[in-house]
Amino acid sequence: MNRISLSAAVVAIHFMASASVQAQTTSPQVVNIYSARHYQTDEAMSANFTAQTGIKINRLDGKEDELLERIKNEGASSPADVLITVDASRLELADKANLFQPMNSKLIQDRVPASLRTANWAAFSTRARVIVYNTAAVNGQWVSTCEDLSNPRLKGQICVRSGSHPYNLSLGAALIAHNGEAAVEAWAKGVVANFARTPKGGDTDQLRAVAAGECGVTLANTYYVARLMRSTLPADIKDMAALTVVWPNQKTSGTHVNVSGAGVIKTAPNRANAVKFLEYLASDSAQAYFADGNNEWPVVKTAVTKNPALDKLGAFKADDLAVEKWAPQTTTAQKVFDRAGWR
Ligand code: FE2
Repeated sequence: MNRISLSAAVVAIHFMASASVQAQTTSPQVVNIYSARHYQTDEAMSANFTAQTGIKINRLDGKEDELLERIKNEGASSPADVLITVDASRLELADKANLFQPMNSKLIQDRVPASLRTANWAAFSTRARVIVYNTAAVNGQWVSTCEDLSNPRLKGQICVRSGSHPYNLSLGAALIAHNGEAAVEAWAKGVVANFARTPKGGDTDQLRAVAAGECGVTLANTYYVARLMRSTLPADIKDMAALTVVWPNQKTSGTHVNVSGAGVIKTAPNRANAVKFLEYLASDSAQAYFADGNNEWPVVKTAVTKNPALDKLGAFKADDLAVEKWAPQTTTAQKVFDRAGWR
């Protein structure tokens, strides 16, 4: 597998310009993957795909926005066959920018639940966005729904990452699909009014801040929580001991679940191999990698996982509103959060 980092500009230019890549893009034995997933287990998955199919992967790693821009700028001559990224809001933006083509795969239709795919892209793993609180600061009964986070009794208690981050935008989009734009704007204003500090850092930083008592409650993706649960570092074990995880909205819509997914690029030079790669991602073995390696849930029900942290988190009621219904609200969610001052 060729792995190319977008930040390594010289290498990236080489990827674009070299005669060997030009030749590879027309070979049936290559697939060019633009990846915004940054997890180690993805390397093992890629190696397995090549071992099974003989198709070599050229992977270009980059940040989500950079990859989207790059594919747009490359236009019809883009070598990209597949875009794989985290978060439905990003996939939706790529789809809106007309970057994908229909997958037309019966296998994906059969294996990926209808609520987790559109015609142009499919989710291959899921992660829930949960509420995590410190019992020393917050009464658990105050935080049973996402909507609760706007209640003034949580004043000065909320740490959360930026409102521009896709994880929060996707949650906002799902809330808009359920509650409407006006209600979510009022909610976002309430959440901002409850901030303990200006948003900074990622989900893990918020978890640490809640554990340290810098704030009382946050929102975090389950794979970050599970990563801390599986850590053997004394500091992480101490942090987890201070934290309680809540599955939000169990009596209403269910807990918001976000995805990681992929689609075939409209101008894919190796379309057939691209579809084969997506079908591989839906195989039982690739699905197990998502779970065991990166603490995400498989989308394919038959996949067998061995992840003690996911087992310990246990079963919950997930929001089953189709991704096709809520992901298009992402742009509105950004406007709503901007108006609410959730920077
Ligand atoms: Fe993440």
